[in-house]
Amino acid sequence: MTKEIVLTGITTTGTPHLGNYVGAIRPSIEASRIDSNEAYFFLADFHSLIKCHDPARVQQSRLEIAATWLACGLDPEKATFYRQSDIPEIAELNWLLTCVTGKGLMNRSHAYKAAVDENIASNQDADYGVTMGLFCYPVLMSADILAFNAKKVPVGRDQIQHIEMARDIAGRFNHIFGQHFVLPEAVVGDETSLLKGLDGRKMSKSYNNTIPLFDGEKKLKKAINKIVTNLLEPGEPKDPEGSTVFEIYQAFATPEKTAEMRQKFADGIAWGQAKKELFELIDGELSDAREKYNELMATPEVVEEILQAGAKKARIRAQGLLKELRESVGLVNFN
Ligand code: TRP
Repeated sequence: MTKEIVLTGITTTGTPHLGNYVGAIRPSIEASRIDSNEAYFFLADFHSLIKCHDPARVQQSRLEIAATWLACGLDPEKATFYRQSDIPEIAELNWLLTCVTGKGLMNRSHAYKAAVDENIASNQDADYGVTMGLFCYPVLMSADILAFNAKKVPVGRDQIQHIEMARDIAGRFNHIFGQHFVLPEAVVGDETSLLKGLDGRKMSKSYNNTIPLFDGEKKLKKAINKIVTNLLEPGEPKDPEGSTVFEIYQAFATPEKTAEMRQKFADGIAWGQAKKELFELIDGELSDAREKYNELMATPEVVEEILQAGAKKARIRAQGLLKELRESVGLVNFN
């Protein structure tokens, strides 16, 4: 049986938080354990240069995100785990794809349009601060996916458009140069995989409402205590629907424990108590991984070795495809 290729990447600009774990890392690692899947996970460090021009930040984030994947149970023997920037074939494919991608398609990108809208709203030139990196972001992302002919791409909802663009670009290349690419599909988790942050909006670095993943027990507790609730007193029944405390609890608990907590809400559990139980649940799931994370952060050479081995594996595959693609576009030796 040919395995289905599952591939995803995380942009290396920040420190992973609980939302990244529940929404991306945990489900991806679960997918990599399914025998019929072949997993490719990578650090999207070329992508990080679009938003971040602070080399120390990029470097630190690359290590933190790599250590997070490994600490959370990614098995580098099972999944191919690498840095995007270690795979020159991705950059090469990026160019081949750029040459068949309509500018009009990129004009429709949500990320680009949002930047333009913001500029217009603040009376700037429409393209103020828009680099070609930002404008062509979806092409590079397509190269990430198509370099391995991935079929399934687990992503957040905000990335669906990018996967659709990758399909368009792959289809266009196939139409001109012959059938080389599998058309990728986005795999989007259910609603529970989208975690809310401290203020009740989607948990995101850009809203500054995140709960840290491996910052230690104390900071975890402190963050949980900051989750916004309402003024209902102990003893007053509380509605689990829409409650951030309840939703985060649910993302970590078994269905049985979730049902118990639902009952406790109905019975009027105090917010302080609910938060205490939430802390204990999360801390229980994460404490071993946190220890592993700290170990890895203290031994970057171990992480480096794993990533180098992953890049080697990934490149063998990408090189095979790139050879075929070069031939198809007319870039072959004369003898
Ligand atoms: N753009 C993705 C994000 O910000 C990260 C990413 C880059 C990615 N290349 C990818 C995800 C390829 C999936 C596949 O979340």
